Amino acid sequence: MENEAKKSNYSGPQRVFSGVQSTGNLHLGNYLGAIRNFVDLQQDYDCIYCVVDMHAITAWQDPEELTKNTRATTAGYIACGIDPEQHIVFNQSAVSAHAELAWIFNCVARMGWLNRMTQFKDKAGRHKENASVGLFVYPNLMAADILAYKATHVPVGEDQKQHLELSRDIAQKFNNDFNVPAFFPLPEPLILGLATRVMSLRDGTAKMSKSEKSEYSRINLKDDADTIAKKIRKARTDPDPLPDNVAGLKDRPEADNLVGIYAALAKMTKKEVIERFAGAQFSTFKPELAELSVSVLAPIGEEMAKLMADPGYIDNVLRQGAERARAIADPIMAEVKKVVGFII
Ligand code: TRP
Repeated sequence: MENEAKKSNYSGPQRVFSGVQSTGNLHLGNYLGAIRNFVDLQQDYDCIYCVVDMHAITAWQDPEELTKNTRATTAGYIACGIDPEQHIVFNQSAVSAHAELAWIFNCVARMGWLNRMTQFKDKAGRHKENASVGLFVYPNLMAADILAYKATHVPVGEDQKQHLELSRDIAQKFNNDFNVPAFFPLPEPLILGLATRVMSLRDGTAKMSKSEKSEYSRINLKDDADTIAKKIRKARTDPDPLPDNVAGLKDRPEADNLVGIYAALAKMTKKEVIERFAGAQFSTFKPELAELSVSVLAPIGEEMAKLMADPGYIDNVLRQGAERARAIADPIMAEVKKVVGFII
């Protein structure tokens, strides 16, 4: 369906919502693909940034690790520049509207819609029968996250576009089924940034991921300067010098990835990076990339370490964020329940 055909005449306030799962270390891919954009949006929108611990448990999480990871993700948000005073930062499970609305959306979304979700197929793989039911309905919970606040704009990476499209379908079907035109907005994806897809430093064809075994495959936001520099130095490359035009990066996934990372960190285009380093050997380029990476990322790592040393502070941020989130979501849930016919 064309986006044009699916305009809701929603006229409520504009609001940004996004989330990151608390399943492990935040890494460079999370930063360049998502969190850095969250930071920039704070200037123009009221933003709600959620640590999605309920999405995390769609795959098994050790409870103690989950608690730690929720705090680490929160620390990462703040260290990257999200301001929890101006905007709202909280963990999903602390606001019951997410679970309540997700149930209603389980009854709005169709099996056929969810059967088409490529992320479920990728994650469940050949073991579909053994995947949690939660993993299957994961996108319905994501729609609930967004629509519990009637959020209008959602910064996401390329890989979440399909889920966001599903959120729009759910909003539209709810509005139609219950004859409440424009009740929910149809949330728009905001896909920003230059290097939204950061690949593994060991394999330029695989996404940088917290689940890859080798620590050298990724730069974690909590890494210190030496670790960052070492990982860049050890990043896999091919033996050729850098090309003198962007087309020359084709079929050179590792070179393409490192140039992409440089471009994103320096806020340049790949073309500009290639012009600067045309014909350079990796022995020249890598130290430059290491220096740039350290200058952007090491301060974030230091700030994260400081924040993580004070879990009481983090928990307090989350608690206050959840309270402010509830103040928005609870009245919306009351409206939703009335629309559905629940007695409240
Ligand atoms: N599914 C998203 C991811 O893995 C995280 C997420 C959960 C999210 N709820 C959301 C993103 C709502 C945007 C809006 O990246």
